[in-house]
Amino acid sequence: MNILAIESSCDETAAAVVKDGRQVLSNVIASQVKEHIVYGGVVPEIASRMHAQAISAVTAKALDDASLTLDDIDCIGVTYAPGLIGALLVGVNFAKGLSYACGKPLVPVHHLRSHVAANYISSPALEPPFLCLIVSGGHTHIAAVNDYTDFRVIGRTRDDAAGECMDKSARSMGLDYPGGVNLDRVSGEGNPDVYHFPRPKVDGSRYDFSFSGLKTAVLNTVNQAKQKGEEICVPDLGASCIKTVVNCLTDNTFAAAEEFGFTRIAVAGGVSANSVLRKEMAAICERKGFELYMPELRFCGDNAAMVGSQAYYEYLAGNTASLELNAYATMEI
Ligand code: KG4
Ligand code: ZN
Repeated sequence: MNILAIESSCDETAAAVVKDGRQVLSNVIASQVKEHIVYGGVVPEIASRMHAQAISAVTAKALDDASLTLDDIDCIGVTYAPGLIGALLVGVNFAKGLSYACGKPLVPVHHLRSHVAANYISSPALEPPFLCLIVSGGHTHIAAVNDYTDFRVIGRTRDDAAGECMDKSARSMGLDYPGGVNLDRVSGEGNPDVYHFPRPKVDGSRYDFSFSGLKTAVLNTVNQAKQKGEEICVPDLGASCIKTVVNCLTDNTFAAAEEFGFTRIAVAGGVSANSVLRKEMAAICERKGFELYMPELRFCGDNAAMVGSQAYYEYLAGNTASLELNAYATMEI
C-alpha cells in the first residue's frame, strides 16, 4: 500500500511516499530555518505563509522522487495535531483537496505518534509493545506503546519540554535558532561537570519531568556573569545543561521501564538526535540489558516519512477521516 504523507506542524514543509508503513520511497523536506533565524524562533504567521508557498512543489517532488503519480497512491496521510494551528491547517487543507480530487481515503495522523513511527522505518523488526521516550520541541512524554494506535502516557513534563529548555538555554548563550542543535554542536568539547544544576523534584509522579527551573538557572548563570563582566565558557555551560537534561530523561525512562516490565525502549522526536542522549541511552541499555531503538538522524526531526509510516497503521485500524477533518493545536497522544 502506497501512502502519500504530508507534514506541516511547525517549520518544515514535508511530503513523502511510504510503502506498507516501513519502506520510504521518497522523503522531501523544505526547511524554513533560515527565515526564522533572525527572530530567534519560529514565527507562526511566517511558517503558515511559507507552508502555503511550498506545499504543492514539495508534494510534486515527493511523487516524482518515488517515480509515482497520484494514480499509484492508495491513501493520503496528514499531520492534524498537535502543532501550530495555522501551519497544520495548510497541510490538512491541502491533503483534503488531494483526497477529494483523486477519491483516495484521508488518514489523520497525530504528530507524536508519527515521531514514534520513525522507529519502524529505522528498525524494520520493531513492533509494539515497547516503552518510548518522546522528546520534541513542544513535548516530553514517557509513553507505553501498547499497540500501533494504543498509547498510554506514563510520565510527562509539567512545564517546558526538554527541547524548549535546550532551545532557550542556547539562546541565552548567544547561539542561533534552532538552539538545541547548536547547543549539541558547541558542547562536544565542553566539560559537563563545571556547572552544577539541581535536579528538579516533581511531586506526585516518579515519571514526570520539570525543565523550567533548569532553563531559568542557565539564564541566571549567563546574566550574573554578564553583570560581573565575566566570560562564560559556552561549551562548558552547554555541556552541563545537556548533562542535566539527559540525566532527568534517562532516570525517569529506565525507572518506568523497570516498574512496568518493558524490555524494549525507543526514543523519538527532534531531541532524539542529541548526541549525549543517544550515547547515554546506548550505554545504559547495554549495561542493564534493554533493547534500544532510535531513529536514524534524518528521521529524528520533523519529516513526512514518519507520517506515512504511522498513517499505514492508522489506516489498518480504520482511522480514516471525512472532508470535515479539522486541525488542532493540542491533542492527547
Ligand atoms: O520534533 P521536532 O523536530 O519538532 C517538534 O515537534 O517540536 O523537535 C524540535 C526540537 C527543537 O527543540 C530542537 O532544538 C531539538 O528538537 N533538537 C535537538 C537536537 N536536534 C534537534 N536538541 C538537542 N540536540 C540536538 N542534536
Ligand atoms: Zn516534531
